[in-house]
Amino acid sequence: MRTEYSGELDEETLAATWFDQFATWFADAVEAGLPEPNAMLLATASAEGRPSARTVLLKGYDRRGFTFFTNYESHKGHDLTGNPRATLVFPWYHLHRQVIVSGTVTKVPREETEEYFAVRPRGAQLGAWASPQSTVIGARADLERWLAAAEERFGDGPIEAPPHWGGFRVAPDEVEFWQGRGSRLHDRLRFVIAEGDVKVERLAP
Ligand SMILES: Cc1cc2nc3c(=O)[nH]c(=O)nc-3n(C[C@H](O)[C@H](O)[C@H](O)COP(=O)(O)O)c2cc1C
Repeated sequence: MRTEYSGELDEETLAATWFDQFATWFADAVEAGLPEPNAMLLATASAEGRPSARTVLLKGYDRRGFTFFTNYESHKGHDLTGNPRATLVFPWYHLHRQVIVSGTVTKVPREETEEYFAVRPRGAQLGAWASPQSTVIGARADLERWLAAAEERFGDGPIEAPPHWGGFRVAPDEVEFWQGRGSRLHDRLRFVIAEGDVKVERLAP
């Protein structure tokens, strides 16, 4: 299988900041009707350097970085606690584009987690309490039981965010914008951010 790519990204049309460029491409991905345009691959590594990757949803981005929410006790949560570096990939294949972000990860302030948790559907709130994410469990029935226990615990009342659940923010030191082009001579422009200084590099495809 082979797709011929078309499009272009050059230094003249590239936005002045990674944030503005991302905002433009993210809007394009939404507008193009891509399924789950905010789905991104999150790669982490353990403190010993063992890599792993999975999909998570981008829940916010601003000039500080990219935010997602998860279980702090999950595989990724343990990786990020021991080795707070991550890479994100937005795989916008339909647009012949990908964005790759690498950076340092911190937990978002608790108030930010609580604010987001409060607007999640009730089922998702209960699920966060019910599922010991990434642990080996005996059977599907265990999950149903833990969900029932969470439902009983909270009744019709408000559900607070579990202490083991919350947001992480990836503060980028590199953001690469990849645009597929003909003859496999793709455009790759990368913002490199170091101590307040930003430069743009072009990479060979
Ligand atoms: C489209 C999609 C979106 C997902 N979004 C999230 C998310 O925002 N947060 C999350 O914890 N898991 C999300 N998941 C599940 C993760 O991919 C993963 O299975 C889970 O977080 C456990 O990962 P870990 O064991 O590597 O920590 C999503 C999966 C898919 C396919």
